[in-house]
Amino acid sequence: MTDVTRPDFTALDLDAIAGLTGRIAVLAGEGGSMDKAARRINRLMKGALARFLDSEAFAKLEEGEAVSLGWPAGLAAEAVDVVKIGKRLTPDAARKVGATLGAKRGTGDVTVFAGSQKNLDALALALILRSYSFTAHKSGEAATPKTGAVTLMVNQPEAWSPLVDEVMAVAEGVTMTRDLVNAPANVLTTTEFAARASELKDMGLKIEVLDEAALDALGMRALLAVGQGSESPSSVVVMEWAGGGEEAPLALVGKGVVFDTGGISIKPAAGMEDMTMDMGGAGVVTGVMKTVAMRKARANVVGLIGLVENMPDGKAQRPGDIVTTMKGDTVEVINTDAEGRMVLCDVLWYAQERFKPAGIVDLATLTGACVIALGHENAGVFSNDDSFCKAFLKAAESEEEGAWRMPLGPAYDKQLESAKADFKHVGGRPAGAITAAQFLQRFIKDDVPWIHLDIAGVADVKQATALAPKGATGWGVRALNRLIAETCEH
Ligand code: BES
Ligand code: MN
Ligand code: ZN
Repeated sequence: MTDVTRPDFTALDLDAIAGLTGRIAVLAGEGGSMDKAARRINRLMKGALARFLDSEAFAKLEEGEAVSLGWPAGLAAEAVDVVKIGKRLTPDAARKVGATLGAKRGTGDVTVFAGSQKNLDALALALILRSYSFTAHKSGEAATPKTGAVTLMVNQPEAWSPLVDEVMAVAEGVTMTRDLVNAPANVLTTTEFAARASELKDMGLKIEVLDEAALDALGMRALLAVGQGSESPSSVVVMEWAGGGEEAPLALVGKGVVFDTGGISIKPAAGMEDMTMDMGGAGVVTGVMKTVAMRKARANVVGLIGLVENMPDGKAQRPGDIVTTMKGDTVEVINTDAEGRMVLCDVLWYAQERFKPAGIVDLATLTGACVIALGHENAGVFSNDDSFCKAFLKAAESEEEGAWRMPLGPAYDKQLESAKADFKHVGGRPAGAITAAQFLQRFIKDDVPWIHLDIAGVADVKQATALAPKGATGWGVRALNRLIAETCEH
């Protein structure tokens, strides 16, 4: 897995400044008044910092933006990053500063002079997340990037140091998700994914891998039908974290299509390579389970991921096939490219039968229609329970992970009517993200609070986002971790 740098909070050491390597960062407010560290840096730079803070260039900066003074005379550092800040470092503002510094850092050393600012844990997390890069398949020098140190020199290191474990738990979870989502499908097969999830038993999670024979015995014919055209065996991985005593768990369910060719309803060639990310839901579930275990959450959480590969071959399912789900409903397969819901329906049903969860959140890169509706800024949120949904939206907002509630309603059900089976699995082009959710809801028992997150637009993106370089974002790990902290732990 990609190494995650552990941030270090230490006391300000003025005499060390001249010799610090890598980048050093100064936070300065409107008007440019300097704290002790800045005054020392300014003196070493023979007044260049003060000149910059007096300049129009500094005045014009937005909060969270920085100008880098390169190869400064008087310092060993390669750059001084001067970040403009407002009066108070709110969590959002702290994240913005961290993201700015993370993007500049790459993987070198960085020392941030943060004095007595607030929300420095959020700053450190953002800095680490934004300096992620996926080098697992580079060769030569790029394969082993330097892993520099992240140091925050502060007035009260003893107040911040206890929070570092929590920062690391989240950073490691998000990084695991990104590594999984970025991995190509010839490497991250269903078997390899299950093996990587199984390694989490070292963190105190109970892991179980249900193989095809076990899934067949359970009657998960819809899930198995999706994987039957692939050489990689289908499986369901169950990850349990029991930190909360006797209470019913929160269940997280993820779509883990390690590659989606579309099957016999094959996708066009252009852009098909992006379908390595079609296990994004399972990636988020796995990352959250890692975070929850690393921070020893006082909650019961169970993660279930359905791992399949959607391939066309002689054994592949066909349009027109009728399959029987674990629940017992029969489904007419119209388009083998609408495979995600066929995987989820069986795993959702199994999760409820086995764990009697207090709530369920499923995550899936489910529909192109959701990308058309919301773009790459927001995931689609569907729910049968207003208060559960509100709690999630609040957690997502606190973490600045875009999430937008979409409607459900029985009127959409007529799009799923089938002449031959109990229903079909696709409802045509209108409201494609909603009819997919509507299909899933048929596998949710009446009294179970449920949220479906369609993350097709946010799991993997072509342009850098606030806290991620282009590629896998890890969207949802932080929001779900917060939801668990705020609603499951006491
Ligand atoms: N994995 C895709 C959805 C997807 C599209 C994810 C773009 C990420 C980016 C899903 O399995 C799929 O192919 N959905 C079809 C459903 C249709 C056949 C009803 C779609 O959205 O076109
Ligand atoms: Mn598909
Ligand atoms: Zn898919």
